[in-house]
Formats: sequence, C-alpha cells, structure tokens
Amino acid sequence: MQSSQAIQFYDYHPEPSDFFSEVIEGLSDKQKYIPPKFFYDRTGSELFEAICETKEYYPTRTEQAILQDNVKEIAHIIGRNCVLLEPGSGNCEKVRLLLDVIKPSAYVPMDISRIHLKNAAQCLSEEYPWLDVLAACVDFTKPLDLSFCPDNRKKIAFFPGSSIGNFEPSEAIQFMSHVADTVEPGGGMLIGVDLKKDRHILDAAYNDKAGITARFNLNILDRINHELNGNFDLDNFEHYAFYNELKGRVEMHLRSMESQQVTVDNTQINLDKNETIHTENSYKYTIDEFQSMAEKAGFEPVYVWTDPQNLFSVHYFEVPAS
Ligand code: AVJ
Repeated sequence: MQSSQAIQFYDYHPEPSDFFSEVIEGLSDKQKYIPPKFFYDRTGSELFEAICETKEYYPTRTEQAILQDNVKEIAHIIGRNCVLLEPGSGNCEKVRLLLDVIKPSAYVPMDISRIHLKNAAQCLSEEYPWLDVLAACVDFTKPLDLSFCPDNRKKIAFFPGSSIGNFEPSEAIQFMSHVADTVEPGGGMLIGVDLKKDRHILDAAYNDKAGITARFNLNILDRINHELNGNFDLDNFEHYAFYNELKGRVEMHLRSMESQQVTVDNTQINLDKNETIHTENSYKYTIDEFQSMAEKAGFEPVYVWTDPQNLFSVHYFEVPAS
C-alpha cells in the first residue's frame, strides 16, 4: 500500500495585498482602475472557470490541447528529472497534463495564498506519490530565493494560461528576468501566451453571449461592497471590453451608466456618466514580439508550439549555459 506522501512547505510570509488601499489608490487616479488580481475571490474564481467553458473564450482549452498534443516533444526537449517550478500555481490543475510524461524529480508550486497552496499541493502529492512536492508560499512577482530546491538539477518554470498578458510589457520582461535568475543558466521556461489575431475573435472572447465575463467583471464591485464597506449599485455599471489594436491588448472596463457618487468605507468617489473603471489588460503578442521580450530578459528561444488556427502559443525558452 502506498503511504500518503508528506509535502514540504516553505513559508516566505509574503506581504498580503492591501485591498482597501489599492482600491482607493486606483479609484483616485485620473483614469480610475482596479488591479485585476482582485478578481479572484471565491465567486470570481468560479466565474473565471465558467468563462473557460464558454465557446467564445478559446485560450484555456486551446492551450490545453497544445500541451496535450505536444507533451512528448516537450518532455524530450526538457529532459527527465528536472525541478518544475510553477509561479502562481493556483489549483495545480494544468501541470497534471505534463507530470506523467515529463517526470520531474520535484515540483515546486508557488502561490501567495497559503491555504489554497497547501490544499492543492497536498492533493497533487497524493495523486503523484513518486513526485517530491515542495510548496513555496511566496509573492512570485518578487525575486525568489529557492535555496531549498535540489541543486544540480535543471530548473524549469511553467507559466501557463497567458497570465503574462496581465503585466505591462515592461513588467513582463522584468518578471521573466526574475524567472531567468531563478532557473539559472541551463534552466528553462515553458510559457503560454495568447496570440494577436482578428479582433472579432478577441472581442467575442471577452464579451461572451451568456454574459459570464460581464458578471466576472462586475463581481469586483460586489467584492468591494462586501469586503470594504462599499455601496456600488451594480445596476449602474456595465461591462465594457474591447481589443485596443494600437496597444495590442484587450481592455476590460466597468462603465458608469450615469453620473453618480459612490462610497468605499468613508471615501467618496465621483463618476461621470460614461466614465470607466479600468479593470484589466490582457496583452496579446505575436511569436516574434514575445521572443524578443524573453530575449531581453535573458532567455533564448528554443521551440514554440501553436494550434492549427494560430490562436495561442506555448513557448519554451532556455537561459544559455555560461
Ligand atoms: C487569466 C488573465 C489570462 O486575460 O484572458 C478572462 C482573465 N479576463 N476573461 C485573460 C480573463 C476576462 C484571463 N487571464
């Protein structure tokens, strides 16, 4: 009988986000904004999963198909016995597509949410008893200290889902530089990146007919109401998402349908009719654009996989061995 494997847990005590002060800061700006990381409370996470099931939102299922169809080749290029790191591992769902074929010697899920990380890592460890699971509670946007990792093994960072698209391009380069430092020369990065494409496909993906993306977007106001003593009337706002071709990004906003005053705890916020609160950017990159960003971060392109319709890309990069 297989005894249940204990995970190792390294707590770096990441500074939790200050929801209140970040919201007040964003709503005090000339172009009002709320950082997209605050979408993901329990309801928001459920709504995001529902978005992934809509027929318009192609990224998640397309990336999954690319990984499934090419996992043998990916494994061949990466080689066995690597240490697989996943910044922002969440429920550790996507890595399951890789583990049996890549056969890393250790998996290092990293997340800022201590409880989710512990549960997800424990659950994965029970399903993959041969795998060492070393969970690290960290803010993965900060430089990482991985001294607990087995040395002398190739380190590979896995960053799926086009999460990189939420960063400004300069921040994405900075983040990938941290990743390059972390995986060290000889290490690699397997990263999912949504591609530029016909704007109709992009507009539809962020405006699903069932209105789930709209609910996901509006939920952030509900969250502010409940957690920060706000009084947003959700009926006075509408979901507004479009592809900004000039900037190469899908933008999501919440548009105030009338001139109104809202309070968040004791802070008063005035909105003009049609004024928007910018809630998310989701950058799209051609293969060349993304490769040159990764090069600026110290990586060199090794291989890139796409789907037959060229909707999504999965890149593999390495830091040249010195
Ligand atoms: C999880 C950030 C990759 O940008 O497409 C989905 C989030 N927002 N629909 C994306 C999202 C609206 C998603 N990411």
